Amino acid sequence: MKIPFTRPSIGAAEVRAVTRALRERHIGGNGPISKRVQTRIAEITGSPHALLTPNATQAMEMLLIALNIGPGDEVILPSFSFVSMANAVLTRGATPVFSEIDRGTLNMDPKDVARRITKRTKMVMPVHYGGISSDMDALGAICAESGAFLFEDAAQGIDATWRGQPLGTIAPAGCLSFHETKNLTAGEGGVLLIRDLELFHRAEIVQEKGTNRSAFLRGEVDKYTWVDRGGSYVVSDLLAALLEVQLERRHELLARRMEIWRLYYDGLADLERKGLIARPVIPEHAGHNAHIFFLVAESHALQMKILKHLKSKDISATFHFQPLHSSPFASKHLPGANYALPETDRAALQLVRLPLFSGLSKKDARRVIAETIAAVTT
Ligand SMILES: Cc1ncc(COP(=O)(O)O)c(C=O)c1O
Repeated sequence: MKIPFTRPSIGAAEVRAVTRALRERHIGGNGPISKRVQTRIAEITGSPHALLTPNATQAMEMLLIALNIGPGDEVILPSFSFVSMANAVLTRGATPVFSEIDRGTLNMDPKDVARRITKRTKMVMPVHYGGISSDMDALGAICAESGAFLFEDAAQGIDATWRGQPLGTIAPAGCLSFHETKNLTAGEGGVLLIRDLELFHRAEIVQEKGTNRSAFLRGEVDKYTWVDRGGSYVVSDLLAALLEVQLERRHELLARRMEIWRLYYDGLADLERKGLIARPVIPEHAGHNAHIFFLVAESHALQMKILKHLKSKDISATFHFQPLHSSPFASKHLPGANYALPETDRAALQLVRLPLFSGLSKKDARRVIAETIAAVTT
């Protein structure tokens, strides 16, 4: 039987909730279900303000607009990352500056970030790779000293923490993703988490096409009109209904993922002892959420061997991000960006992600472990 890489857990409760939303004609954007879900996310994360967005990519775009980031500004982000952040920065006419990652966690290396700060740096955007927190103490200190805005790309980080605090709420702003591959899903969806009230008010105007519709709906103004720049960053209540159920199931879904992650971690210990692979490093203050289980093979040849072997056994495993700094787009349009980032290259060329989702049985997880060991040692 084929083992998929990921599979969203959609049960009867999700079907009931979406059907009910349809029956009750809750299909529009930013409707009552979206509002409820926003409030619930704020409660769960402890974030003072939350705005539900069509995806995490657009949460980042909204924030960049709200902060007036534009031409001449620089934003530092990891090269080992999803392309969304780089695109969001470019869309504003600002310049992405790519930083190196740390070997154990594959998160931004704060020392490298500090070296890349200039007078033009307006923002630093760490990614919490696989739901393992970046070093938020070190990054916070760099931003406090330089005046750069710290934004957490916690797209993969729901329910993960740094010093006990949920990811996405440690910096002044952050985002979570509810894409179909994430721990909790709305199919497509995201949330922008903001600490400061003034910035939140700006962001909700950006979300609602540059109008003060949100203030109008709260009864604060008697009509709504165009007051600022904006776009349309609202989510259909149909998807919010799905997300509402997933949020209530989050402990159950997280527990299942953690169980599988732990099986992999323990089951592959011997390969690490032999120096053939490295397992993820979880820093002392990080509480992870088992979003990804990755291993880093000791060579690119071994990465390819593992992927090929698992594929031959009907197990879907895969590599991950291709470096942004040396991508075809960056080579053509950001010629200054293609400097040496060896840890980033290593992660791209040697990393393997194993199947991980809440519905994966322990029996299948044991088969994945056995076949991974077979691939490495035969
Ligand atoms: C680190 C990171 N940032 C951003 C995103 C984009 O999220 P979304 O698909 O919700 O826009 C992803 C999605 O995989 C991601 O992994």
